[in-house]
Amino acid sequence: MKFNIRTHTCGELREQNIGEKVILNGWVDRRRDLGGLIFIWLRDRYGIMQVVFEPDINKDAYELAKKLRSEFVISVEGKVRKRPEDAVNKEMETGIVDVLAVKLTILNEAETPPFAIKDETDAFEDLRLKYRYLDLRRPALQKVLLLRHRIYQLVRKYFDEKSFVEIETPVLMKSTPEGARDYLVPSRVHKGKFYALPQSPQQYKQLLMVSGFDRYFQIVKCFRDEDLRADRQPEFTQIDVEMSFITKEEVFSVVEGLMKLLFKEVWNIDLSLPIKRLSYEEAITKYGSDKPDLRFGMELHSLNKIFNNSEFKVFKEAVDSKGIVTGLVATGCASFSRNQIDGLTNFAKSLGAKGLIWFKVQQAGIDSPTAKFLNEEEKKNLVSALEANPNDLILILAGEKKAMLNQMGSLRLEMAKRLELINSETPPSLIWVTDFPLFEYDEEAKRFYAMHHPFTSPKIDEVDLLEKDPGSIKAQAYDLVLNGNEIAGGSIRIHNSELQSRMFKALGISDEEAQQKFGFLMNAFKFGAPPHGGIAFGFDRMVMLFAAVESIRDTIAFPKTASAMSLMDECPSSVSEEQLKELHIKLLD
Ligand code: AMO
Repeated sequence: MKFNIRTHTCGELREQNIGEKVILNGWVDRRRDLGGLIFIWLRDRYGIMQVVFEPDINKDAYELAKKLRSEFVISVEGKVRKRPEDAVNKEMETGIVDVLAVKLTILNEAETPPFAIKDETDAFEDLRLKYRYLDLRRPALQKVLLLRHRIYQLVRKYFDEKSFVEIETPVLMKSTPEGARDYLVPSRVHKGKFYALPQSPQQYKQLLMVSGFDRYFQIVKCFRDEDLRADRQPEFTQIDVEMSFITKEEVFSVVEGLMKLLFKEVWNIDLSLPIKRLSYEEAITKYGSDKPDLRFGMELHSLNKIFNNSEFKVFKEAVDSKGIVTGLVATGCASFSRNQIDGLTNFAKSLGAKGLIWFKVQQAGIDSPTAKFLNEEEKKNLVSALEANPNDLILILAGEKKAMLNQMGSLRLEMAKRLELINSETPPSLIWVTDFPLFEYDEEAKRFYAMHHPFTSPKIDEVDLLEKDPGSIKAQAYDLVLNGNEIAGGSIRIHNSELQSRMFKALGISDEEAQQKFGFLMNAFKFGAPPHGGIAFGFDRMVMLFAAVESIRDTIAFPKTASAMSLMDECPSSVSEEQLKELHIKLLD
């Protein structure tokens, strides 16, 4: 079809274009027929332009315009006019002008879309995902993808200027699950053998250090078969970074430079450096989370000392069993109704708590059904330890330490939500969490797991504890946390094959298993591996936060649902018997 190529985009025309002859191409956003006058809003990814068809100007174009429906693709030729004063639309960037059409070509018709292409949509997400290409016409989503693009460019430029080399690593690799489940790809040529899709390029980037590429980065897809949440996708993107001959300070400095740049470019905020650091221990005890949101206070306090000799059974049991009594203060919340408090108690119970203990602080003392179980000194000490004031509400959980801190951390976030402590004006909070434990003990499996991954170096002066007391060792690992979300994680690595094999032993991985799974890495370490370390950013998660959208799916052009499906192309899907046969695969019933 012959058509005239656009002279301008739909978001471009302004007062200075008045009088110009222009050609616009785009989608019909909406059509209003005023009988004798037809108004079209023409949309492309740059904006929306109003086009007017009048029978006196061009009868053919006017008649054809009657046929236009939403999402038709058209080409319009016309003249830019100033709108009459009362027709100026201040909400539209182009709203001071319109285009009086002299020619119209319909480039393609469109069926009525299953939902309206506009920002405020009430269409269910499943429907939007099925027609994702239409969903992506919505300006709100386009804005996020354009921001994502901008951040890619800033990241690439930043690392390039700092002498980092972008190197691609394989997407088909050896299966070495430690952490999430692998996605597997069966081999046709090698019967019964499988490739795995990388959960991250961790081993490859370490091998690149052995090869001498002392500063590597890559924007890379990673694949993890894990339970999905609002901030997780089965395939997601990392900005992966690795450096040689460094300590964690150099890694921090590179990351902080990037964050400073992004804060400025995206939010126009001058991030002050260095970024605050919090040890894992401090994060857990003060905020009940290893990714604390510091946009508000409401710190947790251990009350064990106060209730050391308590007669109150719940506190006594917690203290005697080396658990914790942990409390926080909700400022000014003594006015909470019974209903509101029941709501909080139910929330705590949904996290697994047996109950929630609360006290309303009043001028005369503290008020609660539980108050009668405490003596006067305990009541006084409770208020002073928490620095609570009249009108405050004290919330307390008591029991096993890890579970209580975790539940209290969630309650803290829930309170912030209910009290609307965070809004779009609240300054962002960016912190490092450091000194993670090297291992996590799994009660069910009765073994240690690496908290980050098995290549993470222990703190050097704690290496001797590997055989004696692995649970007490700290790792040279760190996470970067933005507004309560882990946006990056990394570590200084083990670069010595002997230490690496001691690490595998501590993890209960036998020599044979280690050799079979990670032999290539351990062998490489025998040929002169430099000291090295790095980090990886969750790119989608970062964009989600910078764009201030609720879900990671809004940052990905074609995302998967919470059950790891693509509703648009309907995958995963069955394959033919023929394909299965070629891959030597037989399905179980
Ligand atoms: P880690 O497993 O912590 O470290 O991953 C790094 C960052 O990736 C993001 N992330 C995810 N984003 C979306 N969906 C997911 N399923 C998902 N899983 C993780 C998080 C996380 O902080 N190789 C190491 C890095 C290193 O040690 O250098 C690694 O992958 O934001």
